[in-house]
Amino acid sequence: MDRHLISRIAHTDHPIAAPLFDDSVQRLLDRALTGDAERLLDLGCGEGPWLLRALAARPKLHAVGVDLDTRGLTIAQQAAAALGVSQRLGLHHQDAREFSHPEPFDAVLCVGATHAFGGLLPTLTAIDRHLAPGGLALVGEAFWAQDPDEAALAGLGGMAATDYDDLATTVDRVVAAGWTPVYGYVSSRPELDDYEFSWTGSLAAWALDHPEDPDSAEAAAVAAEHRTGWLRGYRGTFGFVTLVLRRAE
Ligand SMILES: C[S@@+](CC[C@H](N)C(=O)[O-])C[C@H]1O[C@@H](n2cnc3c(N)ncnc32)[C@H](O)[C@@H]1O
Repeated sequence: MDRHLISRIAHTDHPIAAPLFDDSVQRLLDRALTGDAERLLDLGCGEGPWLLRALAARPKLHAVGVDLDTRGLTIAQQAAAALGVSQRLGLHHQDAREFSHPEPFDAVLCVGATHAFGGLLPTLTAIDRHLAPGGLALVGEAFWAQDPDEAALAGLGGMAATDYDDLATTVDRVVAAGWTPVYGYVSSRPELDDYEFSWTGSLAAWALDHPEDPDSAEAAAVAAEHRTGWLRGYRGTFGFVTLVLRRAE
C-alpha cells in the first residue's frame, strides 16, 4: 500500500500531521508570524494545514508550500479554493531540499518533515537559506521524553537511540548552531495520545468501511501494528517539540 495513501487516510480526522491540537497550532503561528509578516514558506507542507490556517487568519499574508505528495497538494489547493485564499497560496510539487525561490520569507516552517533534510540541524540550515533577515523558523521535531528501550525503538519501526536526543540536548544543539529559541511548545500527553488514536483509528475504520478494497487487509494490519508499537512500545518515550527560532544576525 502506498505510504502517502496510508498517511492520507490515517490523517483524515487529524489534518495536522503532527501531535498538536488546533489551539497549539494557532498559538505557534501567532508567535512565528509577527505583526508585519507577509511571506510564509512551509517545507513538507503535506495537505497544507498550517498554511491554510495562517492564510485564513491573515489577509495580507502570502504563502508557499512544497511537498512531494501530489495528492496532498491537490487537497491543499482545493481547501484553499474553498477558503477563498488560493490567490495568496503557491504550491510546488518538488523535493524540499531542492526548492529555491527568488524572494526570502518572513517565516519558514517545517513540522514533522525534518527527516526530509536528514534531521533537525540540516533542516535549520535549509530553512536559513530561505529566511529574510530577522525572519523566524518554526520547526517541529521529536525528542526522547525518557531513554528509549528496545520496545520503544522497535515500535518506532527500528529507530536508533541516537536518532533523537532528550529535550534539553535538542535545544542545546539548536542554540549551538546559532539559533535562539524565542518560543517553544512541547506537545502534551493528550495531544500525543489523540494523534496516535486518531492515526490508527482512522486507518482501521477505513479498512472496516472498505472490506472489498484490495488494500483493506493491509490497512487494518498497519493500523494494528502501529497501535501496538505505540501502546506497548514508545508511548511515554516519544516526545514532540515545536520551536520558534531566530538566527543571530
Ligand atoms: C508528517 S507529514 C507533515 C505534513 C505537514 N507539515 C503537517 O504538519 O501537517 C511529512 C510531509 O513531508 C513530506 N516530505 C517528505 N520528504 C519530502 C521531501 N524531500 N520534499 C518535500 N516534502 C517531503 C511528505 O510528503 C509529507 O507530506
